[in-house]
Amino acid sequence: MKVLVTGGAGFIGSNFVRLTLQVKPEARITVLDALTYAGNGESLPADERVRLIQGDIADPDVVNELVKNADVVVHFAAESHNDNSLDNPWPFVHTNVVGTFTLLEAVRRHDVRFHHISTDEVYGDLELDDPAKFTPTTPYNPSSPSSATKAGSDLLVRAWVRSFQVEATISNCSNNYGPLQHVEKFIPRQITNIIDGVKPKLYGAGLNVRDWIHVDDHNSAVWAIIDRGRIGETYLIGADGELDNKTVIEMILEVMGQPRDAYDHVADRPGHDMRYAIDATKTREELGWEPGFRDFAAGLADTVAWYREHEDWWRRQKAEAEERYARLGR
Ligand code: NAD
Ligand code: TYD
Repeated sequence: MKVLVTGGAGFIGSNFVRLTLQVKPEARITVLDALTYAGNGESLPADERVRLIQGDIADPDVVNELVKNADVVVHFAAESHNDNSLDNPWPFVHTNVVGTFTLLEAVRRHDVRFHHISTDEVYGDLELDDPAKFTPTTPYNPSSPSSATKAGSDLLVRAWVRSFQVEATISNCSNNYGPLQHVEKFIPRQITNIIDGVKPKLYGAGLNVRDWIHVDDHNSAVWAIIDRGRIGETYLIGADGELDNKTVIEMILEVMGQPRDAYDHVADRPGHDMRYAIDATKTREELGWEPGFRDFAAGLADTVAWYREHEDWWRRQKAEAEERYARLGR
């Protein structure tokens, strides 16, 4: 099986490549990645079954050539960080919308199976006391330029399935944690701050809730969808991991041997979504998928250990990420 992984030098994509080598040993993997600030070729394992092509998913020439030779395209490439989209939305429109369009046209032309990776942020946010969670029929209501461009890309996929019979599926997952995540994101930013002797930064009061899932559980669900999902369907991926940000910061401090209150409150993110929560019943019942990581504290401790042991991997990104935050006042 020839697998084309877009964005495979990013956080979730590189973990997907690693998992694929284990669960599909016969697979040959081509990673197409622009190696933006968020991509890192060093995140990929050195293995003769994996090759990295540096290129833009919005470049039809590059995309056509690679898609033509693939059995399945797994599309992770995206601009992925909300705070950056509030600073400069254009790369989000380029990659998330134009890039996804370019891939869809290529899989249509060459009749190749396509799986589109998306996020729960397309549904907007929930109130803290809302008993409801997101389901595959929740109306789209994105808040930020980042979520709006991901929502746009999902709608393009749905339209290409209906209008052109493209063989595609979509998954919308909640917040991921684990190794190889860029230090701009919430959990690695706090871990690496503490390693550097800097206090963690909590936006606003920290009451915002995210539904945490280990990256390997996200990726095992992606393979379940590719292997057993129905064409045209949307599957939600989540592991019932709701926690507010303040609690997560306190847990990180505790794991790292610091006082639980040794953090700073900083200015809140404009338009900050209050709560995300996934109801993954359809994915579990229809595909027989179950998350393997059920203990967030243990997964967090493993993640802290990974960042402690891989300073060479994240050190280069850290100063640049903190410069961007200093500009945004966060
Ligand atoms: P990431 O920012 O770590 O990685 C994105 C990768 O895409 C990088 O390697 C980058 O170089 C590459 N890329 C960006 N623009 C490109 C372009 N024009 N052409 C080719 N490559 C390009 O992101 P991530 O956290 O790994 O997220 C991957 C996917 O998963 C995204 O689609 C995101 O919306 C989705 N997702 C992420 C989360 C999360 O918690 N991180 C949760 C749910 C869904
Ligand atoms: P983030 O990792 O950016 O993911 P998302 O915006 O997709 O949820 O942020 C997760 C949560 O953590 C979000 O509510 C914003 C908050 N946050 C902080 O409190 N401090 C930080 O330094 C960062 C980066 C995020």
